[in-house]
Amino acid sequence: MDKPSRKTGARTVRFVLSLLLVAGVTVALENGLALTPPMGWVSWERYRCNVDCDIEPDNCISENLYMKMADLLVSEGYKDKGYEYVNIDDCWMEKQRDANGTLVADRERFPHGIKWLADYVHNLGLKLGIYEDFGTFTCGGYPGSKFYLQKDAETFAAWGVDMLKLDGCYSDISDMDYGYPAMSFFMNQTGRPMLYSCSWPAYVVFSGQIPDYKKIASYCNIWRNYADIQDSWDSVKGIIEFYGNDTGNFSLVAGPGNFNDPDMIIVGDYGLSYDQQRTQMAMWAIMASPLLMSIDLRNVKPETKALLQNDNVIRVNQDAHGIQGHRIQGPFEVWMKPMSVDAKGGAFAFLNLNDGGGPMQVSMNLQDLGLTQAEGYNVTEGFTGQFIGVLKPHDLINASVDPSGVWFGIAYFDC
Ligand SMILES: *[C@@H]1O[C@H](CO)[C@@H](O)[C@H](O)[C@H]1NC(C)=O
Ligand SMILES: *[C@@H]1O[C@H](CO)[C@@H](O)[C@H](O)[C@H]1NC(C)=O
Ligand SMILES: *[C@@H]1O[C@H](CO)[C@@H](O)[C@H](O)[C@H]1NC(C)=O
Ligand SMILES: *[C@@H]1O[C@H](CO)[C@@H](O)[C@H](O)[C@H]1NC(C)=O
Ligand SMILES: *[C@@H]1O[C@H](CO)[C@@H](O)[C@H](O)[C@H]1NC(C)=O
Ligand SMILES: *[C@@H]1O[C@H](CO)[C@@H](O)[C@H](O)[C@H]1NC(C)=O
Repeated sequence: MDKPSRKTGARTVRFVLSLLLVAGVTVALENGLALTPPMGWVSWERYRCNVDCDIEPDNCISENLYMKMADLLVSEGYKDKGYEYVNIDDCWMEKQRDANGTLVADRERFPHGIKWLADYVHNLGLKLGIYEDFGTFTCGGYPGSKFYLQKDAETFAAWGVDMLKLDGCYSDISDMDYGYPAMSFFMNQTGRPMLYSCSWPAYVVFSGQIPDYKKIASYCNIWRNYADIQDSWDSVKGIIEFYGNDTGNFSLVAGPGNFNDPDMIIVGDYGLSYDQQRTQMAMWAIMASPLLMSIDLRNVKPETKALLQNDNVIRVNQDAHGIQGHRIQGPFEVWMKPMSVDAKGGAFAFLNLNDGGGPMQVSMNLQDLGLTQAEGYNVTEGFTGQFIGVLKPHDLINASVDPSGVWFGIAYFDC
């Protein structure tokens, strides 16, 4: 890690980018991926950096864990619902690159290597995601991609990786403006479409600035812009508040190919009540968020599995228009996701963010949700699909909303 080579690395990246700019080449993201929010499974929130396979052979970051989860995505019906990515997160590597500077998977925990694991996952009809970091180290202290962006992009492509999450620990945010685009360019140059998940805006937000979301969306498919989710209702509530504030109008940048990522689904872990699980699912659907579960698929209660596989929730999340729902100001918290550009439908949620008391009784008309077709709408309760009625814009929807719960509805106009 001698300083001169560091400087050369950074300079090379700047040089490549300025060449591209001089040549008038647009380094745009046209990889055809993430046309709807990606769905799948990722290890981080549930399994963290558990590398102790002697003590916890079934729960350590190893090829066995990813193979097992891939098997369960198929056998438990998640794949059929659209969950397709199996994503490796931090702590999968050896602490050193090999003699040629190539990343190496931990030799004991991934004895067959990543290419073999990718083949395994592909044979099940699933896709493999991997994790790296833009800085000198990953957050867990493994080799980062700084000075190796091109080499790592080529390595991942050669291994058959389908998605890369590029974190931003141990890096300088002033380097991100050219470094994250450089990785986008190098990934494109490999010729292998790989979904690009950037932690770039999260680090910009942490530094107290508002990210340039339009620029970020021109290089990244999805991006994190807030703190890591924890296994708690407080964490989910904080994320919903950040997305409601929408500082920088990041919701407007979402659409086919580009989505804000409020972080993993923790429905099925330890921290959320059943009401709170429903709230995370409804809100992640309305926010057009990636649905990347970080849970133990070996132990999912039937009612939780039914929520994770709820057809209406998934249909709202995967709506082809990819419009991100937003918070509407009101006497109580209301969220609306248009599912067409001409007021012909949408999903909405009434949220009760009170920490105590009993259910809140709320009434609201469709007009105030932006649903204005005079003929009215077929309105259904979102989770069950239960028909509420054909409601005109001024008719009231009445709902009882549990504390930390949600009332989730869908309105369709199809005359
Ligand atoms: C690379 O970028 C070009 C132009 O933006 C695009 O047409 C092509 O599909 C991209 N290839 C990959 C593998 O992402
Ligand atoms: C390094 O690259 C050379 C030339 O491609 C190759 O022969 C050698 O096996 C590589 N070494 C390692 C450790 O992969
Ligand atoms: C949302 O905005 C409010 C009012 O500006 C602010 O107090 C709060 O901290 C913000 N929340 C988040 C999570 O950014
Ligand atoms: C966000 O949008 C609102 C209107 O919807 C506008 O008033 C505001 O200036 C925008 N803010 C930014 C940072 O673009
Ligand atoms: C909601 O309540 C109002 C008055 O309490 C009633 O007129 C209306 O029909 C109710 N809406 C539905 C969909 O039942
Ligand atoms: C409601 O659904 C029925 C049955 O699909 C359809 O015939 C009718 O046109 C719909 N009404 C509205 C207002 O969309």
